[in-house]
Amino acid sequence: MKKVGVAILGLGVVGGGTYQILTEHREFYQRTQGVDIEVESVLELNRERALALGVPEEKIASNIAEIVSDPDVNIVVEVIGGVDAAREFVLAALNAGKTVVTSNKELFCKYSHELERAAKRQNAGLYFEASCVGGVPIIRTLLDGVQANNISSMMGIINGTTNYILTKMTQEGSSYEESLKEAQRLGYAEADPTADVEGYDAAYKLSILSSLAFHTKVPFGKIFREGISGITQENIADGKELGYVLKLLAIGKQSESGIEVRVHPTFVRVGHPLASVNDSFNAVFLTGDAVGDIMLYGRGAGALPTGSAIVSDIIYAATHSENKYSTFKNTANADKDTKFVTDFKSAYYLRLTVEDKAGFLAKIATVFGKHNISIAHLVQRSAQEDGKVPIVLVTHETHELAVRSAVAKLNAMEGVGHVDTVLRVVM
Ligand code: HSE
Repeated sequence: MKKVGVAILGLGVVGGGTYQILTEHREFYQRTQGVDIEVESVLELNRERALALGVPEEKIASNIAEIVSDPDVNIVVEVIGGVDAAREFVLAALNAGKTVVTSNKELFCKYSHELERAAKRQNAGLYFEASCVGGVPIIRTLLDGVQANNISSMMGIINGTTNYILTKMTQEGSSYEESLKEAQRLGYAEADPTADVEGYDAAYKLSILSSLAFHTKVPFGKIFREGISGITQENIADGKELGYVLKLLAIGKQSESGIEVRVHPTFVRVGHPLASVNDSFNAVFLTGDAVGDIMLYGRGAGALPTGSAIVSDIIYAATHSENKYSTFKNTANADKDTKFVTDFKSAYYLRLTVEDKAGFLAKIATVFGKHNISIAHLVQRSAQEDGKVPIVLVTHETHELAVRSAVAKLNAMEGVGHVDTVLRVVM
């Protein structure tokens, strides 16, 4: 039987899950995949943690050089996270001809061109299913499941931390701050939650997924990004009344006008398949020209779900003689022929606080009219203690830049009021 040796760099949550799956399923893979996969070594500074997981003392390496020079190691799994050391270790493994499996979305988003070049030079594999949406096999779906299609759109809830926070705000009426604290207590959000709540994590994943879906490099810098830290309980309550739930959506679209990529909190109509994806679950909704709509749903993080993606990559690499690389020209920057749409179209929700005086609503309506923004729905709430009134409105589909310009104009109009929130709406 074919024997494959694996080294795991980092035995944190995901590395530990990967070790557990590989050791517990070794005989199962021999029987079902016809391959004997053995963990040959691990690189983990915390020896106690490695020993507690059951790693034999002699398999704990002291440095990366020991691993990349070991002829029994065929596949190196990088699950240490961060960019600098991970990049150095992954390049060392690829340059030594080892196949690499990584869960590192930031590394892959920023350096996939460099890593892929090194892999191709050595005819080594480079696999990254675990970098996006944890246990949900979205990368394999894009590379090996829907490649018959021209994909026009991809919409996903691809960050579990923010989905947990927004679900809690929606179902329990708690504030953003309370919900974030609870997410931190449960280990979903980190002590510094910026990467998740400000949409960086989702944007790294969207860069990888949209490059694969649209067959052209979509760099991180081309993605419009807005996080959820400014969301209030009033916004959530307005949405409920209007028939929407709020989700941090990653949206990628491809049309004759170009590629549109954005991550932002979005009101999704109740009844849309993504509206019922709650708690820390993730989902991706794809539309292909032949297959139509497809939705993948599951756990986007955690030891075993992410370990599942890593071990599936290991098995893929171990059972295929040819490696599969990107289906686009993988360069540092976007191809000069790729057009990106910045003035995208959407419907919008706006919450304003205005003076409660005759003629003020007309002034506001005039600004929208001048920007060719058509209002679909408008509600005036009860007056606040200071006498001002909140106004909630939803527009018909319009242009992003028209909305930004109208908002700037309204906020510059002395004494009229202020636009507190602008959110995009998916009907
Ligand atoms: N922090 C991510 C999330 C998981 O909350 O979905 C890893 O990408």
